[in-house]
Amino acid sequence: MSKINENFLNLQDSYLFSTIAKKVAEYSKNNPDKEIIKLGIGDVTKPIVPACLEAMHKAVDEIGTQEGFKGYGPEQGYEFLRNAIVENDYKARGVDIEPDEVFVSDGAKCDCGNIVDIFAQDNKVAITDPVYPVYLDTNVMSGRSGKYNEQTGTYENIVYLPVTAENDFKPALPKEKVDMIYLCFPNNPTGTVLTKEDLKVWVDYAKENDSIILYDAAYEAFIEEENIPHSIFEVEGAKDVAIEFKSYSKTAGFTGTRCAYVVIPKTVKGYTKSGEAIELNKLWNRRTCTKFNGVSYIVQRAAEATYTPEGKKQIKENIGYYKENAKIIKKGLEEAGFTVYGAVNSPYIWLKVPEGMTSWEFFDKLLEEVNIVGTPGSGFGPHGEGYFRLTAFGTKENTLKAIERIKNWNINNG
Ligand code: MLT
Repeated sequence: MSKINENFLNLQDSYLFSTIAKKVAEYSKNNPDKEIIKLGIGDVTKPIVPACLEAMHKAVDEIGTQEGFKGYGPEQGYEFLRNAIVENDYKARGVDIEPDEVFVSDGAKCDCGNIVDIFAQDNKVAITDPVYPVYLDTNVMSGRSGKYNEQTGTYENIVYLPVTAENDFKPALPKEKVDMIYLCFPNNPTGTVLTKEDLKVWVDYAKENDSIILYDAAYEAFIEEENIPHSIFEVEGAKDVAIEFKSYSKTAGFTGTRCAYVVIPKTVKGYTKSGEAIELNKLWNRRTCTKFNGVSYIVQRAAEATYTPEGKKQIKENIGYYKENAKIIKKGLEEAGFTVYGAVNSPYIWLKVPEGMTSWEFFDKLLEEVNIVGTPGSGFGPHGEGYFRLTAFGTKENTLKAIERIKNWNINNG
């Protein structure tokens, strides 16, 4: 008899964005005449920039020749891309990272999910609340949580760190000792950021407690304010305690193309039961070689092109386009009387739903009455209740249309 991994039975029925997609498909089927504007999942709408396309075309031609053909590439990524990452994303910011501390992958979602492989099951995990569901669900799957409590909407054995308007969206240090800490800044879903000083508090905590910070920086390209770190490694001491995840998805429109990377400095150590310090870089390398055969050459060439002068310029324009959408949404919602957070250093807009309504009730009302899809805050965790997320990744045309609809919406009467 084959036994299953029963941890999966502890999971909630469906992944948040799948539940939403199902609800929207159902509504759409029953209301085929309605024009639905999707500002739910953070998927980009602008095409891949010309510099990357050109690099891809060139790579396609190259692999069609005998000399240029590529079989299996290095599991960790081609040297040309790892070098470009080190030079542009780290050295240019004064951070010293070596190419063999960078692992190229097919997405930050996969990296954030797979990283749990190298950690012991009895580690205590802390997540911010609300949170990107992947961090929580993958720890539930791998047995680091207890049972789900319907009453509180939380799992046993997981430490939840509230991030709400009451604490200015800055998580407080856990009261108990934790071993793995997930931080995502600019934050998904709240769109808020931490300063270098705020992050230093976490790095110091991790050092004191021999914990690891799993830092998701997928949205760093949207940062515009000073003193907001683009990488946790800009914070002194972080190279001893942090793993960083980065993605080309939201930056360069690779949500469908798939490319990302994870940085594990060789100075980051985990411990055996007997207290021996082990380089996490080595473990991740071993895991990568066993379970992954690398991102395709074509895609890595496209990712490399994001660092060329034309690539950088074109990407900046795309980010500017989404940032303009974020401004339109923020301003429009404020004019419509909503309280709004995020949206400045982030493509996410986090709003307070009207008093007396739950996030899911607001989701249904918004979908049914003005045909706009967003993401209910409670889907990201219990402290997301009473909030709602919209993304700036739509087209400008749809963004303007959505805001017009919201402004003309009599929310109390439909
Ligand atoms: C989101 O909407 O939170 C993101 O698109 C999800 C993801 O990047 O996987």
